[in-house]
Formats: sequence, structure tokens, C-alpha cells
Amino acid sequence: MKNYAHRTRTLVTGGAGFLGSHLCDRLIAEGHDVICLDNFFTVTKDNVAHLLGNPHFELTRHDVTFPLYVEVDQIYNLACPASPVHYQHDPVQTTKTSVHGAINMLGLAKRTKARIFQAFTSEVYGDPEVHPQPESYWGRVNPIGIRSCYDEGKRCAETLFFDYHRQHNLDIKVARIFNTYGPRMHPNDGRVVSNFIVQALKGENITIYGDGQQTRSFCYVDDLIEGFVRLMGTESGFTGPVNLGNPGEFTMLELAEKVLQIVGGHSKLVFQSLPADDPKQRQPDIGLAREKTGWVPKVPLDEGLKRTVDYFSKLLKD
Ligand SMILES: NC(=O)c1ccc[n+]([C@@H]2O[C@H](COP(=O)([O-])OP(=O)(O)OC[C@H]3O[C@@H](n4cnc5c(N)ncnc54)[C@H](O)[C@@H]3O)[C@@H](O)[C@H]2O)c1
Repeated sequence: MKNYAHRTRTLVTGGAGFLGSHLCDRLIAEGHDVICLDNFFTVTKDNVAHLLGNPHFELTRHDVTFPLYVEVDQIYNLACPASPVHYQHDPVQTTKTSVHGAINMLGLAKRTKARIFQAFTSEVYGDPEVHPQPESYWGRVNPIGIRSCYDEGKRCAETLFFDYHRQHNLDIKVARIFNTYGPRMHPNDGRVVSNFIVQALKGENITIYGDGQQTRSFCYVDDLIEGFVRLMGTESGFTGPVNLGNPGEFTMLELAEKVLQIVGGHSKLVFQSLPADDPKQRQPDIGLAREKTGWVPKVPLDEGLKRTVDYFSKLLKD
């Protein structure tokens, strides 16, 4: 049995990405040795450049669809393009990243007896008939649509996690993440928070898909990373899946208005047709996370948006 209170050798795949880089910061701040692995498919080294001189931080260029041989105590498997623009760019590679990536990281966990955390997604619920979505809901996913490479790739990887757990007794921690936002999001990846903020900062019109009445829940990145670390620290045998997200629910119109209030300017709202299979509402039921880890998100949307606007306004000036 490993002791997770001491300094661990932790592998973070997708570690140079939006969530991964915040997780690396947190793990380094807690005194762990971090191997950050990324193939730089959606990012550059910028998100982790500030960590490069740290002797406890190691950056490795590697694609998770190929096996990896390192000695580690714990693994956070985050590697996967997460926004529709990125994951639809090369859909076959997206499914491979989820499925082959899971097999390779599970194999590594099996060999090293490491505890392994997997970033899954609320997309496994598809366009849900149940609202809010508890972990027990099996979802309503189109298996052949343009989002399926991501949704079904993640669903298959979840199956692999639970089969490795049942068959090989692997110590798995499975998170289902709902929309998260914050500094280091990509400015051009088509996700709604970054889209609205960048459009408003550039003084462009704000694009709303559909009538803007569809809802989403938005979790600030620091809250989410706290949820990751707490879930990773739960007792052996507790696997999840566990929803992590902020249950506050907002329509796209409300979000656009909040962004405009913070940024100011004269952007107008323009309406375009909804993309295929876009879910109409999403809201996490976070009862299990609260019960098992005491986790609740703390950063209100207005506050998180202000911090994100600050980040993007600096980024756009550079
Ligand atoms: N941000 C969210 O709201 C959200 C919601 C649900 C799930 N997730 C999941 O969290 C994880 C991280 O998402 P993110 O928002 O940080 O996205 P991101 O695109 O910023 O980060 C993903 C990282 O994985 C890397 N990557 C992609 N394919 C790879 C491969 N084959 N091998 C190695 N590295 C690879 C990318 O270069 C990138 O750095 C993803 O697995 C995503 O599915 C994120």
C-alpha cells in the first residue's frame, strides 16, 4: 500500500494543456515530483514555461497512443483534445487518444502499481433526458455523429478503466468533468466562455448558437483542480465515477450578458444555428463528490469570469 501523504512521482498526461498545467502547478506547490507529458497537439509549452527550471518538474514530449515506460506512484490521465474544434480536427486520432491512451496508461499503472485518475467528461451523458445528471445516469449519446469520436472514445475508455479495476484490481479514480473555464483556456478553440470573452475584448459581435436559451454549468479551474486532488486522495476501493462541476446553471444569453458587463464595449449579440448534437442543458449532480470528499466549488461565476477576462486581455495585448 502506498502512502499518498509523502512526495510522490506523479505523471500528468496532457500536462501542458489548460487543466493539466493548473494541476502541475498544484502538485509542484504541494512538493511532488511531476512528469508532465504532452504531444503538444493543442498547446505550446507556454502554459508550463514557468515550471521548466524547477528541479521537481520534467516535461516530456510523448503521444499517449504509444506505450510509455517510467516509474511513477500516481497517474493523472488528462491527454485528449477537449474542445469540438480540436477533437473534430482529426476524429480518428481523438478516439485513439482516448482508447489507446487509456490502455497504455492503465498498462503503466498495472506494471508500476500506481493509482490512476482519469479525466472523463459530462459528454458521456450526451443530450440527457435526466436533469441534473447523477453518476447513475447511463446517458443518451449518438454513436455515429460528429461528436462521437470524443463522447464514445471517452465512454469506451471508462469501460476499460472499470474492467482493469475488476480484472486486475487497479486502483482507479474516475472523474466526469463538466464545463470548466479559467486562465490558460485556448483563445480560439470555440468553447463558449473563451469565445465570448475574446469576441468582447476584440469589440466583435458575440456569436450565440440557437436562441441562447440552452444552459451550461461553469466551474472555475481552481475549484476543479481541488476536486481532482481530493478524489485522488480518497480511500482505495473508491473508484467513482464522480461528477465534478459547478451546479450553477446559466443560459448562453446570461453568460454573454455577464461577459459584456465585465468587459464593457459595444459588442452586439448575433445568432447562428446550433451545431449538430449540441446538448440543450447540462448540470452536474455533485452529491457524491460532496459526500466522499467534502468538495464543493467556491468561486462564483462573476469572480471567475473577471479572472479569465484579465488573463485574456493580457494575452491579446502580448
Ligand atoms: N476543460 C473542460 O471543460 C473539460 C471538460 C470535460 C473533460 N475535460 C477533459 O479534461 C482533459 C483536459 O482537458 P483540457 O480542457 O485541459 O484540454 P486541453 O486541450 O487544453 O488539454 C489537453 C492536452 O492533451 C494534449 N494531448 C492531446 N492528445 C494527446 C496525445 N495523444 N498524447 C499526449 N498529449 C495529448 C494536448 O496537447 C493538450 O495539452 C481532457 O481529457 C478532457 O477531455 C475537460
